[in-house]
Amino acid sequence: MNKKRVLSGVQPTGALHIGNWLGAIRNWVELQNEYETYVCVVDLHALTVPHNPEELKANTLSTAALYVACGMDPNKCSIFIQSHIPAHSELCWLLNCLTPLNWMERMIQFKEKAVKQGYNVSIGLLDYPVLMAADILLYNPDLVPVGEDQKQHLELARNIAQQRINSKFGKKDNHILKVPEPLIMKEGGKIMSLCDGKSKMSKSDPNENSRISLLDSPDIIRKKIKRAKTDQYIGLEFDNSNRPEADNLLGIYSMVTNQSREKVSKECAEMGWGKFKPLLTEAIISCLQPIQEKYTSLSKNPEELNQILINGTQQAKELSNSTLKRIRKAIGLLEQIDK
Ligand code: TYM
Repeated sequence: MNKKRVLSGVQPTGALHIGNWLGAIRNWVELQNEYETYVCVVDLHALTVPHNPEELKANTLSTAALYVACGMDPNKCSIFIQSHIPAHSELCWLLNCLTPLNWMERMIQFKEKAVKQGYNVSIGLLDYPVLMAADILLYNPDLVPVGEDQKQHLELARNIAQQRINSKFGKKDNHILKVPEPLIMKEGGKIMSLCDGKSKMSKSDPNENSRISLLDSPDIIRKKIKRAKTDQYIGLEFDNSNRPEADNLLGIYSMVTNQSREKVSKECAEMGWGKFKPLLTEAIISCLQPIQEKYTSLSKNPEELNQILINGTQQAKELSNSTLKRIRKAIGLLEQIDK
């Protein structure tokens, strides 16, 4: 029987943080053992906000290296750079012509980013979710493992597949595209900022102290956790809406120590912040240590990463080109004339 398939990606817009890892990448690492897995660095998405070319190049490579350092195994999955596969941009155009504009104007992330950017918003930012739908639908995945913030984008991809491609151009029992399911973990799906337990940890937050990056040194991690927002109560607990910081930091502690929420709740029920913070700090440092070691060793051998990307691109190209061909044909484009 054919394996079910998974696809996901991260934008190389800055240093990856523990939210990206706990919300997404750590789950990919599990899924690659059972699913045919494709993961890409979505560099075209990074162009939708003002960017620096040199930083984009460096972030694209370091994001790919971090996938491997976090445990993505090139023998079990395909790792590639989105812009190396032109089918993503081509399908984006085809889907642009089939997607109603008012579906896009509802997108929460667009509204938030547009407000942040002010007058200088590009068409690309509005179109971002259609490109994301193209990224996904090209690979016909069964599952798309992401954090909670991507839920609405996944819903859009599903609607495009169902309502704009399958029902308009498909046959009753012969769907052109699979309608993928999001996989959003209850634990880790939304890691919050260290400075405010009510807002999401984000790569683009101008305050570096709001996040732990996967490559932060132990000293930096110590400083950031020391500064993390707390409250006046003694004892850590989950699910108290008056204590979002306690809920978030206890949740991170549970995940980085691989202990259940029940167990850490008991352990920390009477603990003051002064005792909890050093515990959390050391737990984060030791779970990031193997990732940082692998990253450093990969950085010393760029040829190895290059080869991983060459192989991944080839595998991703085969699959995406065959889907694109099927869609082109279904919507009435003439077949390409090859010599
Ligand atoms: P991006 O680059 O913002 O984030 C990458 C992944 O990390 C998750 N994530 C979080 N999870 C938990 N807590 C947080 N604070 C947190 N911040 C981010 C995101 O949900 C995501 O899973 N649009 C996507 C990239 C993308 C994509 C795709 C993903 C483009 N095409 C196709 C899947 C499939 C994004 O901006 O993710």
